[in-house]
Amino acid sequence: MDHQTEIIVTVLGIAFVHCLIFYLVSRKSRTNIRGKHVVVTGGSSGIGLWAAIECVRLGADVTIVARNVQQLEKAKQQLLERKVRDEQKIEYISIDLAKDYSTVVAGFESIENRSGPIFMLVNCAGMAVCGTIENTSIEDAKLMMDVNYFATLFPTRFILPKMKSAKEGIIVITASQAALVGLYGYGAYGASKFALRGLAETIAMETKHCGVSVTLALPADTDTPGLARENESKPIETKIISGSGGLAKPQDVGRKIVHDALKGSFFSVSGLESWILSTLCVGMAPWKGPILCVLQFYLLGPLRLVGLLIQWNFHRIIRNCAKEKEKAEIQ
Ligand SMILES: NC(=O)c1ccc[n+]([C@@H]2O[C@H](COP(=O)([O-])OP(=O)(O)OC[C@H]3O[C@@H](n4cnc5c(N)ncnc54)[C@H](OP(=O)(O)O)[C@@H]3O)[C@@H](O)[C@H]2O)c1
Repeated sequence: MDHQTEIIVTVLGIAFVHCLIFYLVSRKSRTNIRGKHVVVTGGSSGIGLWAAIECVRLGADVTIVARNVQQLEKAKQQLLERKVRDEQKIEYISIDLAKDYSTVVAGFESIENRSGPIFMLVNCAGMAVCGTIENTSIEDAKLMMDVNYFATLFPTRFILPKMKSAKEGIIVITASQAALVGLYGYGAYGASKFALRGLAETIAMETKHCGVSVTLALPADTDTPGLARENESKPIETKIISGSGGLAKPQDVGRKIVHDALKGSFFSVSGLESWILSTLCVGMAPWKGPILCVLQFYLLGPLRLVGLLIQWNFHRIIRNCAKEKEKAEIQ
């Protein structure tokens, strides 16, 4: 081996050992949910359905919550096919989680009476209507606060005191990348998801000393029936901006959310672009270990520059679309 090759091999060896140490140190042990009761709201479709499937695969007793009974029945069959224990309980209940707090309390009491105390709550029920602020109706803006924010707050508020006194439990709050940055066409939706980030950070602070952990899921565009409906109202600018990140599979996102929550991660993101955004927007999010902290320390400055370039590109897209619209109006 000549001298140059020796140097290359040594550098690669050192890099490999560093990566290995980083992997081993940052790897967190995962909570076991076998035999424990997990409730997934929005578990009849999309990301929620795949999160529920993952919990079934890990041996948990699972209850899914949504409104449409036919859809719930169909989802239950999919969950039953993945059972890993004979005595594993798979149930569903139809509740309009956005209706009012007392309806949710009554529904969740019946869930606990049937399948036992809830160990993990995965809040996935949600919806999106897009449009610029002036083109979004007040009714839709209120509906999104009801379905995205209050339909998460109600079950979470019901379960929190029980988890705190049991000194264990996991809460997942599903927001969106639009909870980190204001984006064209996502005004009312983003506001409801920003509210969820505030809720998640607060609960994390209020419950950490009680053994309850909180995970804030921040999915990017994911191929679900919900996204198909969202696309119907999406302005062209929003389609270009949000579409630049590609399309994730709901099975990957659902699985990742469950595993991040079981590891106790505060953010759950899929893909490099989402990771960069969550790092850039970390703000005062809870401390999650020294390795991540050191990475954030070194990366935040350079990432601010990347963020400015991304913003510049978004503004360029919006300007170009405006020019195209002007041209179309003149013709
Ligand atoms: N897909 C994406 O690209 C994407 C990106 C970022 C964030 N997210 C978020 O991820 C979550 C799941 O989205 P998804 O795309 O998987 O949606 P989806 O396929 O439309 O599923 C939504 C689920 O929520 C339930 N739901 C809606 N309103 C409800 C209510 N009032 N009460 C009870 N259940 C209700 C739905 O069932 P019923 O209609 O029968 O009630 C369904 O089970 C949402 O919070 C969404 O905002 C999605």
